[in-house]
Amino acid sequence: MTVPIYLDYGATTPLDPQVAAAMEPWGVAGFGNPHSAHLWGYQAKAAVETARDSVAALLGAGPETIAFTSGATESANWALKGLMTHPGQTRRRIVTLATEHSCVLETAQYLASLGAHLTVLPVRADGRVDLGDLERAMGEDVAIVSAMLVNNEIGVIQPIADMARIAHGFGAVMHCDAAQAFGKIAIDVDAMGIDLLGLTAHKIYGPKGVGALYRRPFTMLTPLMHGGGQEDGRSGTLPTALIVGLGAAARIAGDRMAADTAHAAMLADRLLAGLTVPFTVNGDRTARWPGNLNLGFPGTTIPLLAHLHGLALSSGSACAAVTGRPSHVLTALGLSDAQARASLRLGFGRFTLPSDVDSAAQQITAAVSRLSTEAA
Ligand SMILES: Cc1ncc(COP(=O)(O)O)c(C=O)c1O
Repeated sequence: MTVPIYLDYGATTPLDPQVAAAMEPWGVAGFGNPHSAHLWGYQAKAAVETARDSVAALLGAGPETIAFTSGATESANWALKGLMTHPGQTRRRIVTLATEHSCVLETAQYLASLGAHLTVLPVRADGRVDLGDLERAMGEDVAIVSAMLVNNEIGVIQPIADMARIAHGFGAVMHCDAAQAFGKIAIDVDAMGIDLLGLTAHKIYGPKGVGALYRRPFTMLTPLMHGGGQEDGRSGTLPTALIVGLGAAARIAGDRMAADTAHAAMLADRLLAGLTVPFTVNGDRTARWPGNLNLGFPGTTIPLLAHLHGLALSSGSACAAVTGRPSHVLTALGLSDAQARASLRLGFGRFTLPSDVDSAAQQITAAVSRLSTEAA
């Protein structure tokens, strides 16, 4: 069996060998608990704090604002549940967007089942929020506005700084799921007005199962995990090797941000230039992370994935792939269920070769041509 070309960087990225090398000493030899007061503990603690500095530096934040978690899902859960269930919370409404990841939408719906009020705003056909809609939806009852920075299915960048300005005008907290943005585009939590931000290592060539939540000082947040209180309200023994991996991935991503972005943009241009069948790009063409291309093919409404055995990719998020439902992000852009099912999400990055996208363009062109002819 030939190995397909991996074009699912939106689902997860390969582990960078440099990250793996940085983690290695903390797997066996460096087994100490970072909270132990002896040599093994001190060494592990120092490694954890170096990683914290690297993560904080990429956000323009201080290290004390970073708490390590198991990933962006936990970070979103903590941000929303922690804020809405805080004893000092007097506001009851959550405002978010229809194109958010399930870790935000499902958490918000859970909180709504407990009595919170929920406003899910639509997006424009280009995938971006209409700031007028947000302004009109706001009120003094809104506790939190939650929006993704880079969308995981269409790569579109939301105007988070403008959203934060509006949220703050009504006294609400701005939460940002930056799982697909951290390490890929410049983030400055102060300049952008972000109060809570979730991130994860496995979208930036780091290990799976580790992430962080940035918390602006004095943001009201109850713990999600009660226990020993290790991470200032996020209890549990810290996984040193994973955290070191996140730190290394963040450091490398910071150093390589311009090069990685240019490489992804080159690959996107090359892939699109190689397609000789009609296609549409789902979502805004310019306000986007170039390593995520979501394409629709007007010639066919047949789900294409099943006809592209040489490519490892998905039609939507990895989670949607499990349920088999059409992508809620694409339907929020106005695509029909059939159009959404016939769309492809192509994710590529640091380790993708130009020949990979050339081959992808050829395979997609061949499949779409064949299916369009069969359907005609
Ligand atoms: C936008 C977004 N948020 C959250 C997540 C969940 O991240 P994690 O796998 O770290 O829980 C993902 C990816 O899976 C994502 O793309």
